[in-house]
Amino acid sequence: MSDISSHLQEAALTHFWTHEQAPDDEAKGKDIFSKNCFRCHGDNGLGDETSARIAGQQSDYLKLTLQRYKSGNGIRVDPPMAANTRLLSDGDLNAVVAYISALSTNAPK
Ligand code: HEC
Repeated sequence: MSDISSHLQEAALTHFWTHEQAPDDEAKGKDIFSKNCFRCHGDNGLGDETSARIAGQQSDYLKLTLQRYKSGNGIRVDPPMAANTRLLSDGDLNAVVAYISALSTNAPK
């Protein structure tokens, strides 16, 4: 096999895996979001005057921020957000991040 075709095959495989796993994670994330987070951040994650818009935020930022609230290490402190992340496992956290970061930034509020 030529280098180019093996490279293409590798790329296709990566693509396949990404799509294979994302829907599961997003479905789990949607479940978490729509049982809890929507109460303050809105149905579409667009926020309001007291809760931030989180829809479409980049996933690394979301992950780090949620871990900071959860850990109670004092870097990012907000009692409601500490309470709302404390019970999330790392898997839950990744799932909710996958869901939120894929939300549209200009859906209706
Ligand atoms: C009781 C209301 C409430 C609930 C429920 C809630 N949040 Fe929040 N969230 C807030 C408030 C208020 C802030 C701003 C806190 C601050 O200034 O750090 C915030 C901040 C955040 C931020 C940081 C935004 C930024 O721009 O830095 C993220 C991410 C976030 N919430 C995600 C979530 C997720 C995910 C859930 C569900 C697991 C959730 N929130 C549930 C009220 C809530």
